Amino acid sequence: MDRIRTAVIGTGFMGRVHLEALRRVENVDVVEVAATSLDKAREAGAGYNILNVTGDWRDVINDPSIDAVHVATPNVSHFPIAKAALEAGKHVLCEKPLAMSSAEAQELTDLAAKKKLRGGLCHNLRYYPMVQQMRRMREADEFGEILVVQGTYSQDWMLYETDWNWRVDPKVSGASRVMADIGSHFFDMAEHVSGLKVSAVCSDLQIFHPTRKQPKSGGESFSGKLGAAGETVDTQIVTEDFGATLFRMAKNGKDQARGVMTASQVSAGRKNGLVLEIYGTRGGATWRQECPEELWLGHRDAPNQVLLKDPSLMNEKARAFADYPGGHAEGYPDTFKQLFRRFYASVADPNLAPDYPQFADGLRQMKILDAELASHKAHAWMDVPA
Ligand SMILES: NC(=O)c1ccc[n+]([C@@H]2O[C@H](COP(=O)([O-])OP(=O)(O)OC[C@H]3O[C@@H](n4cnc5c(N)ncnc54)[C@H](O)[C@@H]3O)[C@@H](O)[C@H]2O)c1
Repeated sequence: MDRIRTAVIGTGFMGRVHLEALRRVENVDVVEVAATSLDKAREAGAGYNILNVTGDWRDVINDPSIDAVHVATPNVSHFPIAKAALEAGKHVLCEKPLAMSSAEAQELTDLAAKKKLRGGLCHNLRYYPMVQQMRRMREADEFGEILVVQGTYSQDWMLYETDWNWRVDPKVSGASRVMADIGSHFFDMAEHVSGLKVSAVCSDLQIFHPTRKQPKSGGESFSGKLGAAGETVDTQIVTEDFGATLFRMAKNGKDQARGVMTASQVSAGRKNGLVLEIYGTRGGATWRQECPEELWLGHRDAPNQVLLKDPSLMNEKARAFADYPGGHAEGYPDTFKQLFRRFYASVADPNLAPDYPQFADGLRQMKILDAELASHKAHAWMDVPA
């Protein structure tokens, strides 16, 4: 396969991020864009010079010349679109969460394996250069045995009762909001960096706004103060604004580390405050998404350090995730480029071992989420199946 022909379905926040990042992947042409209407698709397509546009994603599925599909729509449509694409013989790169339930996620994982097609999941935040540095330092045993993993994913864009988005509607977003939307990124990164698996959770979820003012039209993601004012209707809220989870982590089934995390869409001032801290028997490290070029390194018997991203100072295996010299910042859009590049390398070469989050990782996040929801309901610890 020389050049890979792909299509992007969904033209909101993520659709545009995918379209931009795909421009930076060497062996891919974006040949079609699908939105909910032809006009929306035309507008998005024009911005990226993509000639074929459609208001119906099934047109993409029915085009045999398209090799791969990006699913960048709200959560409820991930499963039907990904399933149809796989059945039509197309590779799929799906936004997170993979599906609305573990059963759906399992079906997609099995289908991709049966069809021998690539199923990638967009847990892109793994691919900040300094997150990879943290991971490779842990692999090189620089922190010793990991004892404690902690952190948060805190945002403020749903702080007011007038803040609204499709993520509030469980029929579109799923039974969990904050834990599914951003808590899943935390756990994906915590497992990826620590090399451990979450084995049990104890969760407390909170709805601070039992009703919200739903706009009669619109409700853009992350619109904040620029959100549209207009007529609203009071709507009952059933998904959490905040969640906290105590967790245990194991290695090859053997109990090892302890952790705690919070996820929030109502923490004033925190725009995209993902923080991951790991502490081992020899040292610790902290990475913050709002200052992504820095990795704090903690020592018990020596002064602490801050490593500023610089490929020449990075672990050799992490260096491949830093494309720019030290002092030249790489950020959120670059994480998608890194993920897509690895995904399409594996599409081009069926013998290449996947080096990106896969459908199985999406299924794993659904299982953690199920355990968190069950724990909150039962006021008790819940095991997470392996
Ligand atoms: N990886 C990340 O960092 C990240 C960040 C934000 C969102 N996401 C995920 O991306 C997905 C989209 O979120 P968003 O923030 O872009 O939402 P959004 O509301 O900005 O965009 C969604 C778009 O999909 C369109 N759409 C809805 N149903 C469709 C259909 N059947 N066919 C074609 N288009 C359809 C909507 O009209 C809208 O334009 C969600 O699953 C979300 O969890 C991931």
